[in-house]
Amino acid sequence: MVTQPTQSSPFIRACRREPVPRTPVWFMRQAGRSLPEYRRVREGIPMLDSCARPELVTEITLQPLRRYDVDAAILFSDIVVPLRAVGVDVDIKPGVGPVVGRRFRDASDLSWLRPLEPADVPYITEAVRSLVSELGERPLIGFAGGPFTLASYLIEGGPSKNHDRTRALMYGDPTLWHRLMGALAGIAISFLQVQIAAGASAVQLFDSWVGVVSPEDYRRAILPHTSRIFAALAPAGVPRIHFGVGTGELLGLLGETGADVVGVDWRIPLDEAARRVPPGKALQGNLDPAVLLAPWDVVESRAREVLSRGRAAEGHVFNLGHGVLPETSPDTLARLADLVHDASARTPA
Ligand code: CP3
Repeated sequence: MVTQPTQSSPFIRACRREPVPRTPVWFMRQAGRSLPEYRRVREGIPMLDSCARPELVTEITLQPLRRYDVDAAILFSDIVVPLRAVGVDVDIKPGVGPVVGRRFRDASDLSWLRPLEPADVPYITEAVRSLVSELGERPLIGFAGGPFTLASYLIEGGPSKNHDRTRALMYGDPTLWHRLMGALAGIAISFLQVQIAAGASAVQLFDSWVGVVSPEDYRRAILPHTSRIFAALAPAGVPRIHFGVGTGELLGLLGETGADVVGVDWRIPLDEAARRVPPGKALQGNLDPAVLLAPWDVVESRAREVLSRGRAAEGHVFNLGHGVLPETSPDTLARLADLVHDASARTPA
């Protein structure tokens, strides 16, 4: 394995639960609509087209790093990019999210999901390579969608509040469910392997909507597939982060998947999360993104609280509890990144 210069960065060290000079920070959705320069370069270019243009992906990924002293970049892409790359009829509607041409219904629809080959996503390889050479010692995080969340977009046909059809298929047809999850897990593995091979220093599996299932159902219907994804990536040796929203009751199980870092949303304080995950895990999170719309003194005291509770974890990567809201002021995020660094700086012994 090549030793990358990023391996001694505070972000990677915190993921590995090693001592850090200050708490590393990045923000989910740090690129995107909260930035005027993003809205400018995206003008007139559909979301999924922009994800297939490496020079645009590179530019958008780097935009937040020009404003914020964040400790990592995250590849600008989307969880449905690999689905579209294998031929699924999926698009991203502005202001709505991913929508499919027709809902996934039965075993014949499994034919949508052939395995993903690296040659299906040459633009990802190219974008990651170009970013890694620009970023130097700053790590690039690659990512993929988790199997439950991807299944939900396919089965519901688009964004959904409660994912009822998805849970119904999970309960009603376990055989089809496991075949669907297996196919989606295989696609996630290949998509992440492409990014790691091109130089990504860490990966995050976003199973954003998995919080709607019970722990028992998670263990039976989802855990085996997520575990397979993380096991397949283990030989690459890069930190593996796992995140979902509303997963307070699932945190222990998310830690059983083989992830190195468990992402926590804002509903559970980090010290409580640290008690819920198995030993040997770092935590990432978990300031409520809505706090950033409140006055600065509120942001500051809430951020200090997150840092303080995060000390209970074996390693802590500061982040929001979910993505940056589009109406967030970039100046607030810039100030927050600095605050995290200043407030967490350890004085050398
Ligand atoms: O974090 C980053 O800066 C990297 C970029 C990123 C995007 N999507 C870009 C994007 C990442 C990590 C994602 C992952 C993603 N996509 C998730 C998991 C993370 C999460 O938020 O829970 C999910 C559930 C999706 C599906 C999806 N794609 C949604 C819900 C939306 C937003 C719909 C909307 O317009 O409100 C998208 C589109 C999307 N993906 C945008 C961006 C910047 C907005 C597109 C635009 O600019 O019009």
